[in-house]
Amino acid sequence: MTMEGRARPERAWWKEAIVYQIYPRSFFDASGDGVGDLAGVLAKLDYLQALGVDAVWLSPIYRSPGADHGYDVSDYREIDPQFGTMADFERLVREADARGIRLVLDLVVNHTSDEHPWFYASRQGIVPYRDFYIWRTGKNGGLPNRWRSVFGGPAWTYVPERNAYYLHLFSPKQPDLNWDLPAVRQEVYRLMRFWLEKGVAGFRMDVINAIGKPELDDETDAVGFERVINHPKAFRYLEEMYEAVLKGADLLTVGETPGVTPEHAWRYAALGRGPLGMIFPFEHMTVDIGATKWEPAPFDVVRWKRVLFRWQTKLEGRAWPALYLGNHDQPRPVSRFGDDGEYRVAAAKLLAALLLLQKGTPFVYQGEEIGMTNVRFPSIDDYRDIETLNFYREGRERGVAEETLMAAIHRMSRDNARTPMQWSAGKNAGFTSGTPWIRVNPNYREINVEAAWADPESVLHFYRALIALRKRVPALVYGRLVPLCPDDPAVIAFLREDEAGPWLVALNLSPVPTTWPLPRPIAGRPMVRVLDNRHRPPAYWDPATPIPVAWGDGEAAAFAEVCGGKAAGGPEIGAPGERPPERGGHGAGPSTFAGEGRRETPVGAAGPDGKQTAADVRRGSWEVERPEAFRLGPYEARVYRMAPPGHRRRRPGEGDG
Ligand code: GLC
Repeated sequence: MTMEGRARPERAWWKEAIVYQIYPRSFFDASGDGVGDLAGVLAKLDYLQALGVDAVWLSPIYRSPGADHGYDVSDYREIDPQFGTMADFERLVREADARGIRLVLDLVVNHTSDEHPWFYASRQGIVPYRDFYIWRTGKNGGLPNRWRSVFGGPAWTYVPERNAYYLHLFSPKQPDLNWDLPAVRQEVYRLMRFWLEKGVAGFRMDVINAIGKPELDDETDAVGFERVINHPKAFRYLEEMYEAVLKGADLLTVGETPGVTPEHAWRYAALGRGPLGMIFPFEHMTVDIGATKWEPAPFDVVRWKRVLFRWQTKLEGRAWPALYLGNHDQPRPVSRFGDDGEYRVAAAKLLAALLLLQKGTPFVYQGEEIGMTNVRFPSIDDYRDIETLNFYREGRERGVAEETLMAAIHRMSRDNARTPMQWSAGKNAGFTSGTPWIRVNPNYREINVEAAWADPESVLHFYRALIALRKRVPALVYGRLVPLCPDDPAVIAFLREDEAGPWLVALNLSPVPTTWPLPRPIAGRPMVRVLDNRHRPPAYWDPATPIPVAWGDGEAAAFAEVCGGKAAGGPEIGAPGERPPERGGHGAGPSTFAGEGRRETPVGAAGPDGKQTAADVRRGSWEVERPEAFRLGPYEARVYRMAPPGHRRRRPGEGDG
């Protein structure tokens, strides 16, 4: 029973799914024009299937002038010619479906492009489009109010034909729709049905908590967006959308909702009741910034994990979390929260474990699975993002030094996430045969899919192992998250538990080794290490992995070889209590990585899902550690299965009875 005494969350495909976000312009260019396209996504479906993803969220593919790279839609029912045709899209739906992958579209309906036919009609006052947007007359010879837009400059633009200003929370090329008009809402519901009929499995809803506008007589010179979000009307309109379109359909819905608290999640995404399935939190993406995103604040692990844990515990039993560490608007997580130098691989794997092992639906942004990093283009001319370019221009106009601006851009520009996906060490990272629309990150020769695939210890194979693990262990999907040691300055640790017993995740999010004394109820409990980020993932977790080891009789030596002679973390071979046989020989005993766990005769042959199968018996039992403390290396990450609660610790010489 949950806090509220409500039933456990019901199972749903989208709660069990791994979602992969594709920014189509930057994913793969099949046509050779330098811009990624739908045929490019199609060409990489096998890759996505091998990674283990269940759903793909496509950033906008609709017809768009591209002022904000598709987040300014001029026709909701057409594919932008840069990306291909409707036939390409329909083929993509079919081919993805054949691989067990569902498509989720980006629904961008807080605003349209100013080149949308509705806006052309509206600016001329043509009925019924006259009030499709938010028009106001000027005040005292000036703007209707002093709000600024998210991308800089005022949130209002004057149109002489109407002698009025229209509201745009983003750029002037993105006029806000007037959701108070029922006809606008009906248009949105119709276009949603249009795509659902084409077989899409849900929507990510762009800035959806901004659709309900308050009175616009606010006197502050705030960023307008911040004055608008989470108005009760937004919630009401989403309820209406739910009734009109979403109800009864088995869809993934996730709202992009900047500025929300967990309490907002209880409403927008209340379990079994809310209009949406999930909302994206932003609080965990604000701990390293100051008053604006361009101003750095020191990244503090304690603060960060408190935010992460607070969301987890507050949502437990009330709303299903959406998990992400990066997307097309954010810097690369390994550069931001980890280390993109010496410890890049370890840090990217650690962040993968954090992303995939919390409770909720994980969203992996393209390139995260190979540990792609931020980019540091020397010149502003290499940048393409409207927000970045406006920030630079306004900064220069105010006389801010070039180096100061470029340092902020290197840290926070959205283009960090938008450089082309790095497929190979070949020309343009294998992204295009033409000239890419934005330069490739020069580190592609080292960081690319081809190299990662060939390296069993790569970030990519760690993702595959984690995904495979999550898929076979219900506790890692539905089990509650129990935070541990919230005040430890470096270690993020938590349990995931259900009736089958707890799992332990321990992550040292720092470049220095640390000792983590296990909290009392856990210390000394029998546990088996299932995965860590310093050794190859055991082939056991993912039979499709190219690591040339097959589990079976006489494979202990092979395992030892795979893990560099250090076999903790995988199954031992042989019956409980026996020394495992070497391949074709005898005596290849297990060893530990760090030597801190006291070891003893394995206690059972249960597999990671708690069930003892014939295969588990054949493979033998698991190596058991009873640690009191962990010595964790730089960015070391470990995942343990623990003995169920109530399993009493045996002292030396003490019998079971
Ligand atoms: C969302 C999108 C972002 C876009 C903005 C305006 O935040 O993720 O890319 O610029 O909305 O549509």
